[in-house]
Amino acid sequence: MPAPKSVIIRSVGVHTPERRVTNEELSRTVDTSDEWIRTRSGIGERRIAGPDENPSDMGAKAAAQALERAGLSPADVDLLVVATMTPDLPFPSTACLVQAKLGLRRDIPCFDIAAACSGFIYALQVAADMVRAGRYRRALVIGAEKLSSVVDWTDRSTCVLFGDAAGAAVVEACDTAGVGILANLLGADGSNAELLWAPAGGSAKPASAETLAAREHYLRMNGKEVFKLAVRVMASSCEKVLAEAGVASDQVACFIPHQANIRIIEAVAAQLGLGMDRFPLNLECFGNTSAASIPLALEQAWREGKVRHGDLVLMVAFGAGLTWGATLLRWHEPKR
Ligand code: UT7
Repeated sequence: MPAPKSVIIRSVGVHTPERRVTNEELSRTVDTSDEWIRTRSGIGERRIAGPDENPSDMGAKAAAQALERAGLSPADVDLLVVATMTPDLPFPSTACLVQAKLGLRRDIPCFDIAAACSGFIYALQVAADMVRAGRYRRALVIGAEKLSSVVDWTDRSTCVLFGDAAGAAVVEACDTAGVGILANLLGADGSNAELLWAPAGGSAKPASAETLAAREHYLRMNGKEVFKLAVRVMASSCEKVLAEAGVASDQVACFIPHQANIRIIEAVAAQLGLGMDRFPLNLECFGNTSAASIPLALEQAWREGKVRHGDLVLMVAFGAGLTWGATLLRWHEPKR
């Protein structure tokens, strides 16, 4: 197959669990309040998955919607990349489980990417580069998380922030030049890994009676430090990607930032000299859904007509690792 002229996001899909948990409901079990959570984070409620609703289930449903919207069937997919920090199982990968659940072809590569809240941007970039190289025509990229399974529901400083969801994109080779992904950036700083991590449950410290008693298998975060770094790195990532593409920030119709905290997004917008009208938000309804956050926000912006054919869109993320990434694209809806 010849290398394509460009690589586009052809369609998007989402799945969110039915169960809503409001701040008020949380305040009955932990020492918090709707007022604190809203003013410190912008979150009003989050969705919580049921016991049989795992990232592979949510991811498969989001992907099925994206395929249906593109008029495609599972047989049309050449590659599957799933971003998750809450895989169904330690192994095999969640991508292999999604492959079976969706009925994708049995001869395609399927793998997971672990880049926490930056996972969707990482997965998108890897898939897009594989498509750009000419070997695969169409990829499914999924961000799927069940964060309710890793948050410590007795730790008010973290449990109020996260939620469960999945989002998916069909990433495709395109014969039109100058559309789709125009510029991108990925980065990481492992020297700050302990700012946001789960100390136990991996091979370095397998789950044991002691780690369970010490609650070390749950997510821990130094919120203040992560906050400061998130603002600085998300803003500079946007600036670098815009400079690479030769695009001014006010030419971008829609920014899709990782939805962790409204104050982070406001600070990034201010640093870019832009109003919040270009930054659609969904964290009030879903909280921080890590790798699902960007496709969830992108899908909503597209559905509400805030992302249209020909628009410049800039997605930017920051998360555990620490990791970050940004992707600038010209939204392109090919005629069918
Ligand atoms: O997605 C990956 C990236 N993650 C992020 O970007 C998250 C980044 N961090 C944040 O969003 C914010 O730092 C938080 C929302 C986590 C916290 O906001 P903050 O303004 O940094 O608050 P804080 O941690 O400094 O806490 C302020 C106070 C403390 O009380 P004292 O020590 O001032 O008496 C906390 O104990 O708020 C208290 N507090 C709470 N109070 C009520 C912490 N959590 C809660 C809570 N309800 N849920």
